[in-house]
Amino acid sequence: MDSATDIQAPTVTGLPRIGDPAPQFTADTTFGTLKLEDFKGSWLILFSHPADFTPVCTTEFMAFAEIHPELRELNCELLGLSVDSVYSHIAWVRNVKEKMGVEVTFPIIADLNKDVATLYGMVNPGESTTETSRAVFIMDDKQMIRAIIYYPLTTGRNMQEILRVVKALQTSDEHGVATPANWEPGQKVILPPPKSAEAADQRVEEEGAGCKDWYFCKKDL
Ligand code: BEZ
Repeated sequence: MDSATDIQAPTVTGLPRIGDPAPQFTADTTFGTLKLEDFKGSWLILFSHPADFTPVCTTEFMAFAEIHPELRELNCELLGLSVDSVYSHIAWVRNVKEKMGVEVTFPIIADLNKDVATLYGMVNPGESTTETSRAVFIMDDKQMIRAIIYYPLTTGRNMQEILRVVKALQTSDEHGVATPANWEPGQKVILPPPKSAEAADQRVEEEGAGCKDWYFCKKDL
């Protein structure tokens, strides 16, 4: 949240950061040509994987497919990406269905020229110049970047953490609160610290036992 200091809304000149508008693109996908703006109105997890037909990525795709229904209940869609072709994506998705019994229910971008990967900084040349890292961009329904998470090639992502971040962001938006370390839905949330000495006094009075001190107050929703 901005302070009272007059901070201008950022223009995206470099790589997208939290709080920036998501850079727009049009891309070939397993669901045909899609534009990022097609997802406006939904939250979106845009994520990259290193390569099709690799074991860690296969476990991730099965895990993303598994959480997709719960994400949809949160009005959140999934969009995968790698530098493989649409044909490779189709063959891999068919293989995952045939061999693992899991249907991949979301589109995958075929970013052969690394256009989207470059726009979003998904290639980390120190790790690999030919593959995208395991990047996760969480965007809200207005297509603002709300969270960015990177994992290295060798570490499969934790879907429960990705779900937790979406739920935490939506809870913060809805209730004007923050969420503490290891927060899970149903647990106490954190009141944003008061911005003046007077508000600090008032906070302690109003919240009573919910406050350990003026800056540290929790409450149930
Ligand atoms: C994998 O998905 O298994 C993988 C991909 C790239 C590097 C290492 C592992």
